[in-house]
Amino acid sequence: ISLKPFNTFGIDVSAKYYVSVSNIEELKQILSLKTYPNILFLGGGSNMLLTKNFDGLVIHINLKGIEIVSEDSNYVYVKASAGENWHEFVVWCINNDFGGIENLSLIPGNVGTAPIQNIGAYGVELKDIFYSCEAMATDTQQLENFTNETCNFGYRDSIFKNKIKGQYIITSVIFKLTKQNHKLHINYGSISTELEAMGISNPTIQQISKVVIAIRESKLPNPKEIGNSGSFFKNPLVSKAHYNKLLKNFKDMPSYTVSEHEVKIPAGWLIEKAGFKGKRFGDYGVHKNQALVLVNYGNAKGSDILNLSKLIQETVQRLFDISIEAEVNIL
Ligand code: EPU
Repeated sequence: ISLKPFNTFGIDVSAKYYVSVSNIEELKQILSLKTYPNILFLGGGSNMLLTKNFDGLVIHINLKGIEIVSEDSNYVYVKASAGENWHEFVVWCINNDFGGIENLSLIPGNVGTAPIQNIGAYGVELKDIFYSCEAMATDTQQLENFTNETCNFGYRDSIFKNKIKGQYIITSVIFKLTKQNHKLHINYGSISTELEAMGISNPTIQQISKVVIAIRESKLPNPKEIGNSGSFFKNPLVSKAHYNKLLKNFKDMPSYTVSEHEVKIPAGWLIEKAGFKGKRFGDYGVHKNQALVLVNYGNAKGSDILNLSKLIQETVQRLFDISIEAEVNIL
C-alpha cells in the first residue's frame, strides 16, 4: 500500500501491511497477535519524513470521539481520542468558548501525536493545557495513565520521544481548558500588532484563533498544496558566550533568552542567512516564506529531502558553529 496519502510530506513509499484501527479492542487484538515484528504507528503523519519502503505493518490510529469528562465553574476537562484531527478539535473547543488552545490553531496532525513532541506555537505549548493521557503499552496491551508531570514535557520533547520511545501508543488525551476568564497569550510575534491593526483591544479567543490562522497561512505552506512537515529543525540552544561572539559578525541575529547562560536562536534565520530560503532543487526545496520548512513540490524522494537537510546542517555548522537538530522523525 502506498503511504503517500498518510504523510503530509506526500512522500510516495509503500508499506507491506496496513491496518486502520477505530477502537481500543481492535488495537489490542492487532498488537496481541505479535506476528508483526516491525510496526509503524501513524496518526496525522505530519511530523515524519519517510525515506524508504517499510517492510512491516502500519497501524493507522483512527480512534474518534470528543467528550466533556468533568467541569467546575472555571474549568472544563475535555477528552479527545487520538485519531481526532488536531485543528478540528481546536475549532470544536473554540466554538464552545473553551480557552487555552486558541494559539495552537491550524497545527497539522492528530490529537494523539501532539503530546509526543509537545506541539507549540505563538507562546503556548500543548503542556500548558494538557491534563493527562491514556496510552497502551505495545507489549502488554495494558492501558496506562500519564499525568502532565510524568510526561516530562520540554521544548518539542516528552517522555514518549525519550525514555519510553516506541513502547506506548497514545489513545486519548484529556485537556484542561478555561470556561471563563481566559488567559490570553498575545505577546508573541506579530499577534498583538495584527489585533491592533484590526482595531481589537480586548480580543476574544475566537479572534486570536483567527489571527493565528492568518499568520500561519501567510508563512507556512498548506500541506494539501505543497508537501511539508512544518518546522523541519528545532530552534537551537546556544550559550550566551557563543551568541555574543556571533553578534560581532551578525548584528541582526535574533534570539530568545532561555536562561541566564543560554539563548535560543531561530533556525529559520540561520538557514535564511546561509542562503537556502526559497531555494528549489527540482521537486524539493526550502519554503520561500519560512526557511525552517522543507517542501516537496510533487514527486520528491524522502532521501532527497534528507540530503538537503544534511547540507543545511553542515552549512549552518560551518558558518555559525551551531548544530541544528531535525525536529521531524526520519524513518
Ligand atoms: N526567521 C527568519 N527567516 C525565516 C524564518 C524565521 O529570519 O525564514 C526569524 C525571524 O526573525 C522571525 C523569527 O525567526 O522573527 C521567528 O520566526 P517564527 O515566528 O516564524 O517562528 P520560528 O521560531 O521559526 C517556531 C516553531 C513553529 C511555530 C512558530 C510560532 C519551532 C521549531 N518552530 O518557529 O512551529 O509555528 O515558532 O510560534 O520551534 C512546527 O513546529 O512545525 C512549527 C511550525
